Amino acid sequence: MIDQPKFLRALDKKANSTPPIWYMRQAGRYLPEYRKIRSKFKNFLDMCKDPEVCCELALQPIRRFDLDASILFSDILTIPDAFNLGVEFKEGEGPVFTRPIKDVKAIKNLPSFNPSDLSYVYKCVKNIRGALPMSIPLIGFCGSPWTLAAYSLEGGSSKDFAFTRSFISENSIQTQQLLKKYTDACFEYLKEQVIAGIDAIQIFDSWANLLNKQEYESFSLKYINDLVQQLKADDITKNIPIIIFARQPQGGIEQLTDCKPECISLFWDESIDSSIKLLKNKTAIQGSLNPMTLKEDNSIIYKEVKTMIEKFENYPGYIFNLGHGITPDIDPDKVKFLTDSIREL
Ligand code: CP3
Repeated sequence: MIDQPKFLRALDKKANSTPPIWYMRQAGRYLPEYRKIRSKFKNFLDMCKDPEVCCELALQPIRRFDLDASILFSDILTIPDAFNLGVEFKEGEGPVFTRPIKDVKAIKNLPSFNPSDLSYVYKCVKNIRGALPMSIPLIGFCGSPWTLAAYSLEGGSSKDFAFTRSFISENSIQTQQLLKKYTDACFEYLKEQVIAGIDAIQIFDSWANLLNKQEYESFSLKYINDLVQQLKADDITKNIPIIIFARQPQGGIEQLTDCKPECISLFWDESIDSSIKLLKNKTAIQGSLNPMTLKEDNSIIYKEVKTMIEKFENYPGYIFNLGHGITPDIDPDKVKFLTDSIREL
């Protein structure tokens, strides 16, 4: 029998001799081999629609660093794009929607979601799964319904999401309708990713921090929970482990255990000691080195890694990751040093 890969063992809350390692945004602009391919595309989303190219991009960090898990190369905004909101990525600006949701009529008039509009993503999953050895699991993902709704209402990134915040308080019922639509679309989308070959799911609630505790419960957690329950109830998806990443949710990460995910991915400013106390024997933990640590001298990186590994020494189900994505200004050699240090320690 082949040994279960470390990453999947950790998601089962089993101990490993060294923690499995992968990094959020392990593929991306900090890698010269990524930038070379990226320069051939004007619009980032056009690149996401090419399954051969995306397969190559997903494999780049695996080749370079010999990581323990691969993540599908795509973006969370493929779903709003499939709802015909016109998602574009402008240089230096991040995502821009040409047809954002700016009134309740736009919610009522949203088209129904057709999962086959995202068949380029499932094709990419098949390609990556076919190219990876069975010892390396492949992570599929989606944005949380709330995070997708926040981008769709705001029409792109923003410091404070002021429009979104006033829209949801004035149009609570219609916002719930939008969130329900996105939840069902996320389920269909993840199910197709599972059929195509993913081994684990990560749900990104990157804009959890915009809501107060009560809003978080009714606009975000409720729908993450619905999504997880749909996945757990379906014969095709029920055995696929689920990781939830939520950035600074008001009311704390313990609320996320209500959804019963296999793993919680910590944002970098989350207290490790209290997370360990809260989550031990409940879920696996993924995280959570501050990505900015990768700008420091190797001696500092080593020290930080040592502290982190020691804290998780007796935690069954630990996955080493950063507390958010690798930024474009990071030297790939630092990522190599980090990876080697974790394995040495
Ligand atoms: O290795 C990987 O993780 C690659 C796959 C991946 C991307 N985006 C590729 C990407 C994943 C898992 C994502 C998730 C994603 N996308 C999130 C959740 C994680 C988080 O960061 O909180 C969010 C919020 C997005 C939305 C998004 N995509 C933004 C705001 C931006 C622009 C800002 C930025 O970081 O560039 C993107 C673009 C994007 N997605 C890039 C990549 C590699 C860079 C695009 C480029 O090369 O021009």
